[in-house]
Amino acid sequence: MTDTEMKKGLAGVVVDYTAVSKVNPDTNSLLYRGYPVQELAERCSFEEVAYLLWNGELPNTEEMASFTARERAGRALEPAVKQVIDTLPVTAHPMDVCRTAASVMGARHPLAEDSSHEASMAKAVDLFAAMPAVVAYDQRRRRGQDIVEARDDLGYSANFLWMSFGEELAPEVVEAFNVSMILYAEHSFNASTFTARVVTSTLSDLHSAVTAAIGALKGPLHGGANEAVMHTFEEIGIRSEESLEEAAARAKAWMEHALAKKKKVMGFGHRVYKHGDSRVPTMKAALDKMIAHYGRPELLGLYNGLEKAMDEAKGIKPNLDYPAGPSYHLMGFDTYMFTPIFVASRITGWTAHIMEQAASNSLIRPLSAYNGTDQRSL
Ligand code: COA
Repeated sequence: MTDTEMKKGLAGVVVDYTAVSKVNPDTNSLLYRGYPVQELAERCSFEEVAYLLWNGELPNTEEMASFTARERAGRALEPAVKQVIDTLPVTAHPMDVCRTAASVMGARHPLAEDSSHEASMAKAVDLFAAMPAVVAYDQRRRRGQDIVEARDDLGYSANFLWMSFGEELAPEVVEAFNVSMILYAEHSFNASTFTARVVTSTLSDLHSAVTAAIGALKGPLHGGANEAVMHTFEEIGIRSEESLEEAAARAKAWMEHALAKKKKVMGFGHRVYKHGDSRVPTMKAALDKMIAHYGRPELLGLYNGLEKAMDEAKGIKPNLDYPAGPSYHLMGFDTYMFTPIFVASRITGWTAHIMEQAASNSLIRPLSAYNGTDQRSL
């Protein structure tokens, strides 16, 4: 086999059909079940989008009412899950906490060994409903704050923020959070979704597949990039007294130095999109609203300075993690919680793919070319 025949990183390899989403890098478009993600972000709640991803259609009023009731009833964490989280040190990465919580919820699930479509759908909704409580619980225990229980009179995003901060945030903040959850929900055969499909292809259960997917998402080449973006901002230095122009100039200088040292700058580049990520304009508009709401123009300066310098030097565009990171920072989340928020969103896409894989399964088992020592004898 030649190096050109081998598809390292599976780049460019089409491995299966999917009806969940369509990524078109030529037109920078992303469709969930046929709908442009930008339209969904503008007009729908994250709950409606979750329903769409799982069922193929948006819910009617009755379907939405029953789905909402089901989701709200599943928001509280079981005491046993809280106890397991409490055994984990606060030095553990919050993604390890998410991964452990997903695994524990799987082992305790009444339908644990049932991988029928109905059981998997029930498990998907349960994980979707409970994961915000995991993220909020973990942030608050790390901060030494009292735990805030879920409320059933708030929508998904408002309740997520309520549990995280113990206060109701402004409607524009809730809206920006809702937009981010919709944009993060699904993106075809990315590394974590493919991981979930590989696990499912062995006829393993949904929680095992989600637990593995969380592990894949943790890496900085994938979901971990939204945290890494904020670390870049912090390394450059966030100076609230600075003007937009001053911040942009410092960011530009930082980027030029980083690229001269051949550094990979997180939040830029994408395996599929080579002319810009379809989700960025919508998330950037949400970030702009957050910057205006919180009065933090220096963050826009850092954002613009890095983006411009990268474009001029290498023509590489930002990905979704780039505007999402500073948006979550402004909302008040600690940086290490950004990727767990991504988990709470992507659970919808992962589980839609898990059910799709199970419905038309073929064991995923590629080949390798051996380049070790020739056969020898003991
Ligand atoms: N910073 C600096 N250079 C970058 C870059 C980045 N973020 N992303 C790509 N490049 C450069 C590479 O160094 C390489 O340059 P070279 O040809 O001179 O060696 C070229 O662009 C191609 O990059 P490559 O890593 O081979 O592309 P890929 O398709 O395998 O990688 C990513 C895609 C996402 C892994 C890559 O862009 C990256 O590491 N980005 C940062 C992590 C990130 O933001 N991930 C979230 C993705 S949604």
